[in-house]
Amino acid sequence: MDNSTDTNAQIWHSEQMVQNWVKEATAQERNRAEQRRLMADLLPFGDGEEFTFLDLGAGTGAASRAILGRHPRATAILADFSTQMMAAGEPQMVPYAGRYRTLEFDMTTGLWPAGIPAQLDAIVTSMCVHHLTDERKQGLFAEIFDHLVPGGWYFNYDPVRAPDPAVEQVWRRVSDREDPEAAQRREHRTPDQQARWENHVRYMIPLDQQLGYLRSAGFAGIDIFWKKLENVIYGGYRPA
Ligand SMILES: C[S@@+](CC[C@H](N)C(=O)[O-])C[C@H]1O[C@@H](n2cnc3c(N)ncnc32)[C@H](O)[C@@H]1O
Repeated sequence: MDNSTDTNAQIWHSEQMVQNWVKEATAQERNRAEQRRLMADLLPFGDGEEFTFLDLGAGTGAASRAILGRHPRATAILADFSTQMMAAGEPQMVPYAGRYRTLEFDMTTGLWPAGIPAQLDAIVTSMCVHHLTDERKQGLFAEIFDHLVPGGWYFNYDPVRAPDPAVEQVWRRVSDREDPEAAQRREHRTPDQQARWENHVRYMIPLDQQLGYLRSAGFAGIDIFWKKLENVIYGGYRPA
């Protein structure tokens, strides 16, 4: 894919878009604390156990921070194609200095950089798989499988598309009730917010389809570990 013309790449490589995203994410993260903690708890490592995990599409590092905080001897590799996002996360990553490194990786390519070890103890993604085409979602899941040690887990926290319009209406009604300003924001998006919204939903697909991709990649123990309306945490492990 030619990144210079791809909307997703343009958005995540724009300093302005990233700054706006970071401002909004600070508020959103307050509502995601439980899910971040759960992702960290789902990783099957004992207190004080050493392991290395990969956070793909890591952005400013929210998922990594939760895991590094929960597992004091874990080390992280944060990979993203946006150096702007990773730079924006640096101040928040300061408490974890020496326990993580960042590298550039464009998940549309399927070409994993040499800096990513061939075998990882665990891999996580959050809020980024929905930016990939179906073909790349399938490709990425197979690549993740190949990069896990036998028994290693992959977890993904992401929004999914409703399987039918009636379900979508229910999700929206409940979300609007919980966040009375959501409808107002939806109807008064700035051009920047509209572009991000269109990019956000562009390749979003139903949950069942994604679980099917995990199965095809060879994962076992596939489960939906958490779900509320459009947001889910699912995952599976590479059998021994
Ligand atoms: C909504 S942010 C989520 C960031 C972080 N994982 C989180 O949960 O806060 C989406 C992230 O996916 C990254 N991303 C989108 N498409 C990508 C691609 N093709 N390759 C690598 N990273 C990508 C963006 O740069 C951005 O950092």
